[in-house]
This record gives sequence, structure tokens and C-alpha cells, in this order.
Amino acid sequence: MMVDGNVLCDAAGLDDGKPVAAKDSEGRDLVVVGHAGRIHVLDGVCPHRGAPLAEGWVADGCLVCPWHGWSFDVKTGKHAPGVAISVHACSVVDGKVRLKS
Ligand code: FES
Repeated sequence: MMVDGNVLCDAAGLDDGKPVAAKDSEGRDLVVVGHAGRIHVLDGVCPHRGAPLAEGWVADGCLVCPWHGWSFDVKTGKHAPGVAISVHACSVVDGKVRLKS
């Protein structure tokens, strides 16, 4: 059986706004967030001091860093002018969140 390296996590249970840690096929840290009926995949490391964003929380449509509170729009990754994390396209297939390649 072929292993699909783009599978990040199960889609079930993501709707509660609790971020879930994941890694892409190259081992980069990502975070998967279910919010307002949609699923978003963002970079998993805060650009401020490197906190794991999967340990943060969602408030007002933003993923909040657990260390110093920077917040990133879950749709765009933006924090402030010139400061953002990447947002990665994803889809749900057979109940699994997958990165679009
Ligand atoms: S490490 Fe994220 S706000 Fe400081």
C-alpha cells in the first residue's frame, strides 16, 4: 500500500477551535485549525520566538500564540503589516485532512 505523505490528521473533532499539531512530508511543523466550519493549515512555528502554535488557541478568527499572544488570522496568516505565517491549501478526503500538492 502506498503511503500518502500529505495526510495531516483526522478531520473529525477539528470544529472545536482547538489547534492540532501536524507535520508535512518533509517534517516541517504545521498546525491544523477548524474554525467556523472550515479547516485551515498554517505554519506551526511562531515567527516571533519560535513557539509551537499548536499549543495556542483560536480567538476572533485568529490563532493566538501561547507564549506572547501574537495572533494570526486563520485564513491569511497575517499578524501585522509585514508579519505573517504561511497558509497551506488543504482538502478533506475520506475523513483525513490532506495538503494539496
Ligand atoms: S513566540 Fe509567539 S508571540 Fe512570542
